[in-house]
Amino acid sequence: MTDRYAVIGHPIEHSLSPRIHAAFARETGQALTYERILGDLEQFEEQVRAFFHQGGRGMNVTLPFKERAWDLVQERSPVAESAGAVNTLLPLPDGGLRGENTDGIGLVRDLRENHHFTFTGKQVLVLGAGGAARGILGPLLETGLDGLTIANRTVEKALALAEYFAAQGPVRSCGFEALAGERFDLILNATSAGLSGKVPQIPPCLNAGGWIYDLFYDCQEPTPFCRWGAAQGAAETIDGLGMLVEQAAESFFLWRGVRPSTRPVIAALRDS
Ligand code: ATR
Repeated sequence: MTDRYAVIGHPIEHSLSPRIHAAFARETGQALTYERILGDLEQFEEQVRAFFHQGGRGMNVTLPFKERAWDLVQERSPVAESAGAVNTLLPLPDGGLRGENTDGIGLVRDLRENHHFTFTGKQVLVLGAGGAARGILGPLLETGLDGLTIANRTVEKALALAEYFAAQGPVRSCGFEALAGERFDLILNATSAGLSGKVPQIPPCLNAGGWIYDLFYDCQEPTPFCRWGAAQGAAETIDGLGMLVEQAAESFFLWRGVRPSTRPVIAALRDS
């Protein structure tokens, strides 16, 4: 039987993951299937267990189930542990499940490998303190950056996150107003403001030659945050399509032990 993989989420019909993994499998000559599963808000855990019980070899988990997947697994990678969320599931030999989180690794790989961003010595600002922010902080703090600031509209949430990650690197937190007068080399948008066409209301704080990165993506047009970045004079404005493909590649590598090429897949998605 061909090895079976899937992505589970709710909604799921928009997911690009089947297309991405089909391209990886073609390129690396791996025989596998990868399907979409509409997650049931009540029965998510049972659906996952049934998938693996029926011989499934791996699963990606997307919104709104990443935290529930974290609770479900018997074993977690250190990155998944601190992310508080799991986006990749692997079966354990004893029948249990291992949870990984490849979102932050995918973000860092996109910036480094595809855009040649150097983190060493840089001041990085993360906007937002929800699940998306928490998922990227661990890998960001391992890059050798000089300082990481978490700013959130609700400052208490940023404080709590910074406290949680304090042992992992140079991290601090503040509200949006306190950013006035600060300067950052890279500003990442991990808020959900873009979903309603908005951008976080922050004072100008991008360094000359600084970059902005939106975790959200839009294949058709620049996201609101990318447009905001361009208006701020950002040297590069990048959306999260590359991160999406890189996090998928990391999952593929964990499952198959083979690293697929990502650039042709990013380019094909952008063109389509
Ligand atoms: P996710 O898991 O996608 O991160 P979340 O946990 O609901 O989603 O968090 C959404 C984040 O986007 C929060 O940091 C939220 O700020 P608050 O904590 O103050 O609610 C942020 N956010 C959403 N809309 C925003 C907006 N219009 N401006 C600024 N921040 C916004």
